[in-house]
Amino acid sequence: MTTSSPRPPVRAERTQIGIVGAGPAGLLLSHLLALRGIDSVLVESRSRAYCEARQRAGLLEDGTVRLLRATGLGERLDADGLPHGGIYLQFAGERHHLDFRDLAGGRTVTIYAQTEIVKDLIEARTAAGAALHFEVTGTEVADLDTSRPVLRYTDASGDRHEVVCDAIAGCDGFHGICRPAMPDGLLAVAERAYPFAWLGILAEVPPSTDELIYCRHPNGFALHSMRSPQVGRLYLQVPADEDIGEWPDDRIWAELKTRFEIPGWELKPGPITEKSVTPMRSFVAAPMRSGRLFLAGDAAHIVPPTGAKGLNLAVADVTVLADALTDLAGGDTERADAYSQHCLERVWRASHFSWWMTTMLHVSGDPMDEQLMQSQLRYVIGSRAAATTLAENYVGYPPLPSEFF
Ligand code: FAD
Ligand code: PHB
Repeated sequence: MTTSSPRPPVRAERTQIGIVGAGPAGLLLSHLLALRGIDSVLVESRSRAYCEARQRAGLLEDGTVRLLRATGLGERLDADGLPHGGIYLQFAGERHHLDFRDLAGGRTVTIYAQTEIVKDLIEARTAAGAALHFEVTGTEVADLDTSRPVLRYTDASGDRHEVVCDAIAGCDGFHGICRPAMPDGLLAVAERAYPFAWLGILAEVPPSTDELIYCRHPNGFALHSMRSPQVGRLYLQVPADEDIGEWPDDRIWAELKTRFEIPGWELKPGPITEKSVTPMRSFVAAPMRSGRLFLAGDAAHIVPPTGAKGLNLAVADVTVLADALTDLAGGDTERADAYSQHCLERVWRASHFSWWMTTMLHVSGDPMDEQLMQSQLRYVIGSRAAATTLAENYVGYPPLPSEFF
């Protein structure tokens, strides 16, 4: 006779909003909801340490900074963030400055790493006693077309939970389970894969520049960004399927030096502490809501990183979602019904901007493209109208509306 071990009991729980994913979107949403007196349960498949160390974005639009500040998350951001009032555009061996303060009505951007925002948010939520569960497995969402959707997960000690919610926020990134949980045939997906990737490095060396440099060179695009006065963040365009093993540190610095070279300026090399290759794609899935499931951030859309819109879009989505869910808690569905359309307007603006920056600055090898893109770059640096278009999109368009500030 065989005996089967008894299934562990399922713990039945209740919250207002179930949130899947502890990236910037999920963490910020739980924070904004808490400020409105709405409780949430957030589940994350990775460990806290992994989430806090994952190297990704670093550039915040002015609306993102104002929101973080207005919601009590400004202390380290103001102490350590690096405000930037412009960028350099480099092509044909010349470097030109675009002044955002002048072009975009005084609005600026700030360098503050995604890792630091995630740390600040986890710290704030933990201090507030929030239900934040890391290292969960078996996440499931169900009953999405009812007014009591269900979030199920197994916690780190093996206990299975079933949380009855008023709504669920799918903030679980591009590879999460929430978008696939939408009904078959509902989503219209628009997608473009680019034939190149970014090789990104973190380096223990003071940045060689005061502002970010976006550089088009015959060998490919390069970007000089930074994380602090002591740490540089630099990127190189490489083929989409590039093997990082082909890029020892010396080769990376030599290629960066070649692409950024202009007379009278020098790139300082230093120890590389991290390197990775990120493929680039544009992806938008619409609508961003089905029944009581709302998608936010990378779960619904991906942009190529040129122009740094990914993180800022995730912040914009959850700002809109926090308002919609607050109304929903009071029985008013109007903003929940408008959520997808509201977000998608900004998503498509950012998708266009990211696609435009990417095609303008990356090298395809096609001689026609080369001339078209150089002409476009000359137009941007020569025409105040064209420069303003770049600047107002870069600092965030439309300016983030929020009831928090
Ligand atoms: P994510 O940060 O992806 O968070 C989703 C979370 O959900 C993750 O923590 C994941 O572990 C969790 N999760 C997934 N499935 C489950 C599940 N089943 N159960 C529980 N939890 C789950 N943007 C820029 O602007 N500039 C950059 O330089 C840049 N570089 C990037 C590099 C990489 C490698 C990647 C992937 C993205 C990069 N981005 C960049 C984009 C930017 O980081 C994202 O837009 C941003 O992280 C989106 O936040 P999010 O919260 O929507 O998603
Ligand atoms: C970054 O600092 O990681 C960064 C900055 C600007 C971009 C993309 C990435 O356009």
